[in-house]
Amino acid sequence: MIKVLFVCLGNICRSPMAEAVFRKLVEEEGLEKEIIADSAGIGHWHIGKGPHTGTRSILDENKISYEGMTARQVENLDWDRFDYIIAMDQQNLTDLNAIREKNDVEVQLFMDFVDHENEKDVPDPYFTGNFDYVYGLIQSGCQSLLEHIKQTKIKEEL
Ligand code: 4NP
Repeated sequence: MIKVLFVCLGNICRSPMAEAVFRKLVEEEGLEKEIIADSAGIGHWHIGKGPHTGTRSILDENKISYEGMTARQVENLDWDRFDYIIAMDQQNLTDLNAIREKNDVEVQLFMDFVDHENEKDVPDPYFTGNFDYVYGLIQSGCQSLLEHIKQTKIKEEL
């Protein structure tokens, strides 16, 4: 089983959107027994809450389920549980690296999976309000990430 964790600041806008989009892509490929996804936040403010209304609307429009998803904070056990930890922006990456032990799984930047000229961060729609733009980046990055996992990890495990 390959486990992927998406991490943003609040775990109500970007990382739950990535979790839901990625899970849908995994299901479409029939890989739900091989790959699972989760998300978490650096901050604790929204623990237990569902995704932000902006994230819910765009997922609803695209018929992507977020059923049962609630915000949680990153925890120590995550370093042992996950094969991929994906930070939605550079500040999330810095924060995760600050608590990462030397031999923990390396944190990767979500935008490294998106072919984009200048954007290094998935801009936070909690502040920009632009959930549509973020959805486009997340779709694109999730597709590339899944392709990357299929090319590397799944082949290794077969
Ligand atoms: P997210 O957005 O990191 O994409 O979930 C945010 C949500 C809430 C806050 C900040 C960012 N907040 O400060 O409460």
